[in-house]
Amino acid sequence: MTEKRGLRLGDVAPNFSAETTAGKIDFHKFKEDKWAILFSHPEDFTPVCTTELGAVAKISSEWEKRNTKVIGLSCNTLESHEKWISDINETQGCDVKFPIIADADRTVATMYGMLDYQDATNVDKKGMPLTVRSVFIIAPNNIIRLIITYPASCGRNFDEVLRVLD
Ligand code: BEZ
Repeated sequence: MTEKRGLRLGDVAPNFSAETTAGKIDFHKFKEDKWAILFSHPEDFTPVCTTELGAVAKISSEWEKRNTKVIGLSCNTLESHEKWISDINETQGCDVKFPIIADADRTVATMYGMLDYQDATNVDKKGMPLTVRSVFIIAPNNIIRLIITYPASCGRNFDEVLRVLD
């Protein structure tokens, strides 16, 4: 009998194709033979998310030094993401160059177990769950090497993510 279970360390990161702010991607082709940080945040234009995305953008040279591609995700549309990136760049004084997945239909969030089923306030206007703050570190061979999950209310420390990557 096959058990339905969530992703674990050592699993192959599932591939997907998705619309992003950098165009349509095939995830495995996008990351090529590099490390990847795939991270979700609850919703565009919310304060903690805006600060986090600014923090990730400001250490872009640290990701590059580590041969690492960064890609964000939230369950909003591409149009919303594009407006939000302008807002992040203006308010955080940065230049967001990494792609953000427009996962409004929650395909990728469901595949990676990112949806919030414990916080009844972390929902969209239709009552559909939004994502928690997940981080996946994925190795050049596509194996998942780290999973962190924070609740929507708590921002992450990306220096800690760099530490684990090292
Ligand atoms: C925020 O980004 O500020 C946030 C998002 C969801 C829940 C709580 C805070």
